[in-house]
Amino acid sequence: MNPAEQTHAAKLIGAIGSRAQLSLNGKWKYIIDGYETGAFGFMPVWKDAKPKSKSDRLEYSFDASPTLWVPGDWNSQDDKLFYYEGRIWHRRLFEIPEEMREQRLFLYFDAINYKAEVYFNNEKLGEHEGGFTPFNLEITGKLRDGENSLIVAVDNRRRGDAIPSNVTDWWNYGGITRDVRLVALDSTFIRNFHFQLAKGSANHASGWVELDGEKLPESVEVELPELGLKESFTVDDTGKARIELDLPGLQRWSPDNPKLYDVTIRAGESSVSDKIGFRTLETRGMELLLNGKPMFLRGVCYHEENAVRGGRAWSVEDAKRFLGYAKELNCNFVRLAHYPHNENIIRLADEWGILLWGELPLYWGIHWGDDQVLENAKRQMGEMINRDRNRAAVIIWSICNETGRTEPRNKFLKAMADHVRSLDDTRLVSAALQPDKIEGTGKKVISDALGEQLDVIALNQYIGWYDGLPDACKTSDYEVRFDKPLIISEFGAGALFGFHGDKETRWTEEFQAWVYRESFPMLERIANFRGCAPWVLVDFRTPLRMLPGIQDGWNRKGLVSERGERKQAFFIVQEYYRKRLE
Ligand code: GCU
Repeated sequence: MNPAEQTHAAKLIGAIGSRAQLSLNGKWKYIIDGYETGAFGFMPVWKDAKPKSKSDRLEYSFDASPTLWVPGDWNSQDDKLFYYEGRIWHRRLFEIPEEMREQRLFLYFDAINYKAEVYFNNEKLGEHEGGFTPFNLEITGKLRDGENSLIVAVDNRRRGDAIPSNVTDWWNYGGITRDVRLVALDSTFIRNFHFQLAKGSANHASGWVELDGEKLPESVEVELPELGLKESFTVDDTGKARIELDLPGLQRWSPDNPKLYDVTIRAGESSVSDKIGFRTLETRGMELLLNGKPMFLRGVCYHEENAVRGGRAWSVEDAKRFLGYAKELNCNFVRLAHYPHNENIIRLADEWGILLWGELPLYWGIHWGDDQVLENAKRQMGEMINRDRNRAAVIIWSICNETGRTEPRNKFLKAMADHVRSLDDTRLVSAALQPDKIEGTGKKVISDALGEQLDVIALNQYIGWYDGLPDACKTSDYEVRFDKPLIISEFGAGALFGFHGDKETRWTEEFQAWVYRESFPMLERIANFRGCAPWVLVDFRTPLRMLPGIQDGWNRKGLVSERGERKQAFFIVQEYYRKRLE
């Protein structure tokens, strides 16, 4: 990975929504580059050349090309691109407002899946790998009068040495799938900051502020008006200031009281504001404690897909739809599977008081022995954490999903757990594990060595769907070989909405409901059981599920159909969680 790649995480601009910016969302021209000749050869698309005379030979033209909406994956916007995996060049022309031209200017991409090459005014700015995390590139001093040209080559081809690897149970939506922003900042600006309750403290915040620029002020000021706080902290010669601040009279954030405070940080003439919740988070033996009180996570898993509209979800409206379903289910927790979701849903969860599990797609068959893959994973984890580190709703960073227990995997994931804690020691580390079976008995054991690295044990279990029929729940038990909280991070069954029959008939809503009816009593028998997240909130597209007339390219384990229709199982989960509220 080239050095520029490495610094993306460290260079990420935090609290991006509160910065002065111009949205570059909208219709972008696109050119399909199936044989990747766009970067060289007879089709140098990045030059965006124009014919100088009628005899000039050019074999591409953005001006004459069709358009795609950005944000937006290409698969759901054009039937010709539904299955397309390859490279597509996107172009946006834009003028830079006068008031921005004298500032430091950055392009900020909320996410591009999977690999991006970014050109500005026909000069290559940089690259980014990773389909679900943000990155920014500086364009100061590279401006043109009039129209400026932003060209992005997006390549969504799967690779064995990528993250995720080449097989996933979700659709490989390619494209500029989230917001694109032109951001204007001062010559010395506040790049990012961490401002949360210190680990183990109920009223003392600690953290840091990082400045970016030549002229460094001697100090930064942190203001929290509602608590009457305004304190200054010394800036060291690297542009970093440490924050230590008591928060007397603090109202701690919780699902019942998602209290957010206006926080402003100033550095010289520059400032940034954010809305931040403060809460404590810890485990004590098998207990999960939020603000010192044991809690149970009434959760659900969710893929980032707006099936009703089609394609990748990215907007506030998408977030409201899906967290609305979660609220209707009486949830206080959502597992954002299997990759970092867009910032809109993270910030909405902060406002609505819904706890979140964030994860990288270290999913199934990763090339664990490849150092480049580990560096890629660390960088992507850094991008996710540097974006969401001040979001009270985020309580868990998960480092893998259903990965074979080998020595290279254990070594890789221990390095990841250490890396997460080096970036953020205020949240809990987990991973979705799988159980061992004790042959001949209904007993299953969770003894994965990776559990030693985790604060919270999570388990994907499918008794009743992949493992026996639902009745098997009556005689199955799990033994957790760790004195730690356990979350059932996946369980459930498939059903086609509207397909009814007796409960023994696979794929009926009645069968799916039966699995949930039998699962909850079994899970209740596990001493460590402190939460669960049914797989999955809404049916979602995947190339792995092609049973004609039932799946047709959809994973049918949703509690809700891709048209927003609630299946019988939805109401069983809703009632179980309601009773948990009593
Ligand atoms: C797996 C996996 C999910 C998958 C689900 C299923 O556990 O984690 O990504 O979609 O089970 O089989 O439906």
